[in-house]
Amino acid sequence: MTQKKLPDNLHRDTLAVRVALDPSQYGENSEALYLTSGFLQPDAETSARRFAGTEDGYTYGRTSNPTVTSFERRLAALEGTEAAIGASTGMGAILMMCMGLLKAGDHVICSRSMFGSTIALIGREFGKFGVETTFVSQTDVAEWKAALRPTTKLLFAETPTNPLTEVCDIAALASLAHGVGALLAVDNCFCSPALQRPTELGADLVIHSGTKYLDGQGRVMAGAICGPAKLIADVFAPIVRTAGMTLSPFNAWVVLKGLETLSIRMQAQSANALAVARWLETQPKVARVYYPGLASHAQHDLAMHQQSGQGGAVLSFDLHGEGADAARANAFHVINSTRVVSIATNLGDTKTIITHPGTTSHGRLTEDQRRAAGISQALIRLAVGLDHIEDIKADLARGLDSLT
Ligand SMILES: Cc1ncc(COP(=O)(O)O)c(C=O)c1O
Repeated sequence: MTQKKLPDNLHRDTLAVRVALDPSQYGENSEALYLTSGFLQPDAETSARRFAGTEDGYTYGRTSNPTVTSFERRLAALEGTEAAIGASTGMGAILMMCMGLLKAGDHVICSRSMFGSTIALIGREFGKFGVETTFVSQTDVAEWKAALRPTTKLLFAETPTNPLTEVCDIAALASLAHGVGALLAVDNCFCSPALQRPTELGADLVIHSGTKYLDGQGRVMAGAICGPAKLIADVFAPIVRTAGMTLSPFNAWVVLKGLETLSIRMQAQSANALAVARWLETQPKVARVYYPGLASHAQHDLAMHQQSGQGGAVLSFDLHGEGADAARANAFHVINSTRVVSIATNLGDTKTIITHPGTTSHGRLTEDQRRAAGISQALIRLAVGLDHIEDIKADLARGLDSLT
């Protein structure tokens, strides 16, 4: 069935619930989930043309699927990019980007505070293939500038970072990258397009872990790259077809439906996070709170400008405590005293999640590396969901108030 043609210039809230492929002949109002590995071809000639790429049409599930296409179009509409391409996970999207853009002898600049698996993938795995990476301060643009080389092909940033919520200046990094003919990619996982649209600030590519806020309810793994249509079609789509980091149609469908509520979830979860962060700042057992929405945050003004005036839903806080063992014991006490929030390592869920970065996401670093990254054993990360803030506060207060 042919969909009514959508008018131009619709608001993002409307795009979030409307952009998709046309309904099938049955006229379903909720987008169809096409669970199939292969697609029937009307005849051998059509099949040959589709495989040769001279005619549009679905052929095989590793290459493309209509439900995945609907997700890609909706995400691109929200990010304001020409196109998007799905991946099996956020790391699958980063792998696709690196395979597409880098070759031996190329140079990459990344923030030192990026997600650990990203650092391992680019620094260690791509290092094996002759790609060199310089890791620099998240917030010091001068360090990024000093690291530029004639061979620099990619600047890759993530903002805010996990778990310390450090914010980098997307526009400044975009102008550095473009000055040497490199691309700027931004991992927009923490803010999502509901709060931050990196290409409006000059970034060329946006990376997503759809596992986080795009799904929003902790159900499936997913990833995506958003960017120019030509790059997606000519560089990244052939990699998905060949290397197989394909987004499953079921996961694409779950995240497609998640996008419909993304904006209201991000607004509500950011408001909850701000309330909890402000309350934590008043707690005597808390040494420091890291949250871009707080005036005390080092890049508060930049964050408010880049992130639609919102801090996002992830915050971290340090407890007092002398020595790593005592600090860890205090953090574990607060975490173990919770009865509502979930002890887990994911984020982006409607359920509030509490994590001890020092023994989970950053547990494989040495104590020295952790210290250099500013991650103490007393640090706790909270990915604030839609639980009532009074319940979250009471859950945290149980452990904080009984700390000796
Ligand atoms: C900022 C960031 N980027 C990428 C990823 C990787 O996403 P996925 O777990 O979907 O591979 C994560 C996962 O936690 C993340 O926090």
